[in-house]
Amino acid sequence: MKLMIKHHACILRALIAVAILQLAPSTFAGESADPIKIAINNWSSQQVLSHVTGNLLSRIGYNVEFHPADTQTQFQTIGNGNLHVQVEIWEGTMAESFNQQLSRQRMVGVGTHRAKTREDWWYPEYMIDICPGLPNWKALNDCAHALATPETEPAGRYLAGPMDWERPDRERIEALKLNYTVVNVPNSATLWMELERAWQKKTPILLMNWTPNWVDTKYPGSFVEFPAHTPECENDASWGLNPNLTHDCGNPVEGWLKKATWSGFQEKWSCAFAVLSKINLGTRQLAAAASLAEIDEMSPEEAANRWISENSNIWKTWLPSCTKSLVLMDSVAATAAAAPGQESAEKIAKTNNCLACHSVDKKLVGPSFNDIAAKYFNTPEATELLSEKIIAGGTGIWGDIPMPANPSVDNEQAKQLATWILSLKP
Ligand code: HEC
Repeated sequence: MKLMIKHHACILRALIAVAILQLAPSTFAGESADPIKIAINNWSSQQVLSHVTGNLLSRIGYNVEFHPADTQTQFQTIGNGNLHVQVEIWEGTMAESFNQQLSRQRMVGVGTHRAKTREDWWYPEYMIDICPGLPNWKALNDCAHALATPETEPAGRYLAGPMDWERPDRERIEALKLNYTVVNVPNSATLWMELERAWQKKTPILLMNWTPNWVDTKYPGSFVEFPAHTPECENDASWGLNPNLTHDCGNPVEGWLKKATWSGFQEKWSCAFAVLSKINLGTRQLAAAASLAEIDEMSPEEAANRWISENSNIWKTWLPSCTKSLVLMDSVAATAAAAPGQESAEKIAKTNNCLACHSVDKKLVGPSFNDIAAKYFNTPEATELLSEKIIAGGTGIWGDIPMPANPSVDNEQAKQLATWILSLKP
């Protein structure tokens, strides 16, 4: 896990450097120009949503950085103001350390997603044949032998998440007298690798899973049903099946998913705070965002860009009135903020029907603006060259289809359009 985090940190540092280069020239009117530091954890939906958040904040003019963070210690770091934002706080694995910082008034909540969350012991559907009686937890001991591995036998193996995801699995095993041993994986990728391997051969496996997640679209399965969770189960030993021990129950089945910031955030970046409080995803939406990274194998930044370009109907509702003065580039899968000139350039493109033949990232009748930018960004006087072509039209550079002249576009507008197009270099 250390190694992975280190590796991650390295990639992230490179990404931060890129992000800074692409940042908007000005920060949001009158607010702090200090970078807003967004925490990045070790699973994909969090990474994608964090990058979506950062992308939107930088589009409206904030400086944004991404920092890898441990799931438990991050709340202390946020409480101290060294990190500022966490957009996915899961009840099942993070409630305790989060609530601590809340009660010390070092963090403040900025709302709850619509998505309901569950994190618990889970099995792929073919396990029903190997362990009849599932999903009832009482079936588990009879098939512990089938789930035993050399490192756990004679006990069965429960493959749990990384150590920094707080879960009382060991307490539960003791309280419910389960013949199982917890084996923690270094990262979520290891969980899915083990699941894929077991799935191929239909070998027994019992592992941690959660919803919303991309996993169920690929591997049907179910959660083990333990005695229902109540707060008393975690605090009061006399509650539940085992009168002497706590944790004789499952995890919450309709857990919350919250967002929170450092307590000084609102004062320093008030419009960004308003945006954060509006960010809100449902269960399916979150799973779909994660699957861009996992199934389509995009990096979190690519997945975030894709998500933004395909879901403007969702994220536009997240922009509060303080962002009204800004016209955002909606069809642009840009990674950074729009400078004022760029926004109106897109408007000019719209009014003059350029977008009937061009799009930013796809070839239509004419070449995509990204491709045009990539072709000319090294050409001296490209702005002049393209401005002339925009007004006069022409043919032969990209194929046989001619581009018509645009007499309604004046020199100034043509230059603005050309500058904007050239700035779209991917
Ligand atoms: C009817 C379709 C159509 C419309 C409308 C249109 N274009 Fe084009 N555009 C094309 C085609 C086709 C080409 C490729 C021409 C060529 O191969 O030289 C092109 C090429 C371009 C190029 C690249 C020029 C080069 O020499 O490489 C730019 C820049 C451009 N268009 C911008 C615009 C802008 C800005 C508008 C709106 C003001 C616009 N286009 C409207 C079809 C169109």
